[in-house]
Amino acid sequence: METISFAKGAPAPELLPLEELADCAQTVLAREGTTILSYGSGAGYTPLRELIGEWFGVHPGRVVITNGALQGLWLLARHLVAGQSVMVEWPTYDRAYKLLLQARASILAAVVDDRGLDPDNVDSTLMGQINPAFLYTIPTFQNPTGTTMPIERREHLVRSAVKRGFLLVEDDPYGLVRFEGEPLPALFDLAGKTSIYMSSFSKTIAPGLRVGWLILPERLAEELTEAAAGTYITPSLLGQAVACEFIRRDAFVPNLKRVNELLKLRRDAMFAALEKHFSGVKWTRPEGGYFIWLELPVPTDTREVLARAKGVIGTAGTEFTAPANYMRLAYSSAAPDEIETGIERLAAAV
Ligand SMILES: Cc1ncc(COP(=O)(O)O)c(C=O)c1O
Repeated sequence: METISFAKGAPAPELLPLEELADCAQTVLAREGTTILSYGSGAGYTPLRELIGEWFGVHPGRVVITNGALQGLWLLARHLVAGQSVMVEWPTYDRAYKLLLQARASILAAVVDDRGLDPDNVDSTLMGQINPAFLYTIPTFQNPTGTTMPIERREHLVRSAVKRGFLLVEDDPYGLVRFEGEPLPALFDLAGKTSIYMSSFSKTIAPGLRVGWLILPERLAEELTEAAAGTYITPSLLGQAVACEFIRRDAFVPNLKRVNELLKLRRDAMFAALEKHFSGVKWTRPEGGYFIWLELPVPTDTREVLARAKGVIGTAGTEFTAPANYMRLAYSSAAPDEIETGIERLAAAV
């Protein structure tokens, strides 16, 4: 029996634009191989910094490109935490959480409900506390819950950050991975481009390129560039040049459309399978992204369910600091026609 995976937040092989990327790689190596195969700035490949700067309406000096967004968060945490607290969403992305603990942050948590992070809970949790080094949030198609903060909550959160004077770090790898509904403004835009924004091409082109970026206040961008250079000299420029070429030759938008169509098929297959095999159970209904958050009745322990399940894997909520009756289901990597079988196998183990 082949194992069907709902565990990994990774794209299915057919989502990767192999041929176009191979052609981009050939083009950039022929055109500027001696530059991109050498050392460069700690902040990354200049043409891509300029392009991202154009996209976001900021000076390219504010853009720091890293080997994936997670490395950017690591640089940021190492630089800013210094024994302070960091506020995170509860639940939150497991790798980010572990990374913050490694940076010796003490953790403050604010609740995520079915409309994303609750800013009232941020306000009440911070009452009487010293400000955290920053608040780390994933406002759109959150990992692990798939939830999205509506505009009122975004505005409220930005107002609170301005009023109390704490820094917002917005992680937005899924914002463009939208299948339906209206896009919402980033916290970064609502904050007049003064907060910190991070994103990545992992979900819109390919994770193996390892191209993510931070948009920072200018001074912090300089400091992190120095920290990056002191850690790994220069990020891998080949992947960045390939991503830049992919965008410059207008392959990005049609590819994103294709990726979103393929992901929508998977999400719809998972919705249908959940309706059939988990009726009466609660789950989130994201308009994009990679994840659905399943809430089984207490006292079900999803770690035990997953241990019993044959031929299917998912991730227990406890991995994301959530109670044991929750489970994250990623629909991104399984084939659409496997999804029903996977959900049926999971239901059999409950
Ligand atoms: C919220 C979030 N941030 C960051 C990442 C990692 O991004 P990257 O591959 O750019 O390091 C992921 C990947 O799953 C994610 O879900």
